[in-house]
Order: sequence, then C-alpha cells, then structure tokens
Amino acid sequence: MKFTVFRFDPEVDKEPRYSTYEVPVGEGTTLLEALLWIVDNADGSLSFRYACREAICGACAMFVNGKHRLACKTQVKDLRADEVVVHPLPHLPIIKDLVVDMSGFWEKYRAIRPYLIAEGLGDRELYQSHRDRQAIDEMLNCILCACCYSSCPMVWTNPGYLGPAALLKAYRFAADTRDKGGRERLKLVAGEDGVWRCHTVFNCAEACPKDINITWSIQALKRKLARAAVGLKP
Ligand code: SF4
Ligand code: SF4
Ligand code: FES
Repeated sequence: MKFTVFRFDPEVDKEPRYSTYEVPVGEGTTLLEALLWIVDNADGSLSFRYACREAICGACAMFVNGKHRLACKTQVKDLRADEVVVHPLPHLPIIKDLVVDMSGFWEKYRAIRPYLIAEGLGDRELYQSHRDRQAIDEMLNCILCACCYSSCPMVWTNPGYLGPAALLKAYRFAADTRDKGGRERLKLVAGEDGVWRCHTVFNCAEACPKDINITWSIQALKRKLARAAVGLKP
C-alpha cells in the first residue's frame, strides 16, 4: 500500500515536503504498525508519537485521509483507500514530521483546574450514587488526544479560546456531584475566551475518536452559566 507522509524538520527543511513508501499491509495492520514498519525498514528518521498502542494515551492522534484518527486504533484496510496520506494534527505548530507542539493545548487544559475541588472534607470518603456517576461517564472517556482542539475553527482563529477539550473537562467537574468548585470553576469558563466563543459547529464531536459529544457538554456549561447569571442554582 502506498503511504504518503508529511515531513518537516524545522532545523533542516525550508518547507514541508512529502515522502512516499510502499508498506506491506495485512489483515488487521494498524496505521501505527505501518508507520513503525517505515521506521524499521525504510526511513528511521520519521518522527511520530505513540505510547499505549490501545487508544488510551492519546499520543498517536494524527490526520489521515482527511480525518482525525488515532493511529493505533485505525486499521489500514478500514480506510478503504488505495493510498494513505498522513498529516500531523492540523493547526498545531510542528516540532518534527507528525509530532506537534501541544503546549498551548495543555496550558488551556490546566487553566480550568482539571481536578476535583473538594477542600474542607478532611479524610471523609466522597460517595457518589451510581446514577450520578453515569451522568459523567461519557466525559471520562476523554484521552486528551487534542483531535477536537485541532478541528475547532474557533481555536484556529482565536488563539486564546480555551477550546473543546478544556471546556469538556470543565463540564465533567461541574457535573460531578462530589466537586465543590461550583461557581468558581464556572467563572473560569465564562470569560471572553470561554464557552461563549463556541459557535456550536460540531467539528469537535465529529473529530473525537472516543465519540464524545463535546458540543453537548459545552452547551450544558452555557446553560449552567445562564442559570447562575439569574441567581438560580447552576
Ligand atoms: S474530547 Fe475526544 S477528541 Fe477531544 S481530547 Fe478528548 S478524546 Fe480527544
Ligand atoms: S462546537 Fe464549539 S468547540 Fe466544538 S468545534 Fe465547534 S466551535 Fe469548536
Ligand atoms: S498509542 Fe496511545 S492512543 Fe494510540
């Protein structure tokens, strides 16, 4: 199978280029295995990230045949194509080849305080009912791969926008019955670069390899803010 892979080493190349490889592909071969074959057999200088190989770490996110995908989760044959064209996550700065700079993504993620705020409880155990836990199930599947972030037109045009992954996480805690962050966390997403910047385009939900309806969570955050604004319980 022909693989055409985006290449760019800012220390050497003046402009991006493409390399092509003929890669043996069998039943069940994943994109990640094909890329590893290239490194082992054709070009050891090709750079990309991966770690878990089982769709858990989010490191191998890339843009393949026009779609955001996890390389370890995608079987080449499922692409139903004669050629595989591999790009890094679009709209993120390139460090080398398929490796992008995620620092902006992590900075925004940290800004929403992505952890349970439960001060003042001492050593008491935090109970949660089965139903309350189910309410946040889908959001817990996020593996922070940044596919949604890379797909969002508001991120492309507004560098300060928190973006879908951080807002999803903010809602994950706002909807967690154990969290005591409440209005304080809502304040973090209410500003100019917060939820109101989202134009409900649904690109993020479309791009998510974990099928999380991120846009729905952002809308739910907006509803919480609107309730808080008129003095109702968020
Ligand atoms: S919401 Fe989906 S696309 Fe976005 S970071 Fe999480 S897993 Fe990746
Ligand atoms: S729904 Fe909102 S966050 Fe998702 S891609 Fe569109 S503008 Fe971005
Ligand atoms: S290698 Fe971890 S998600 Fe693909």
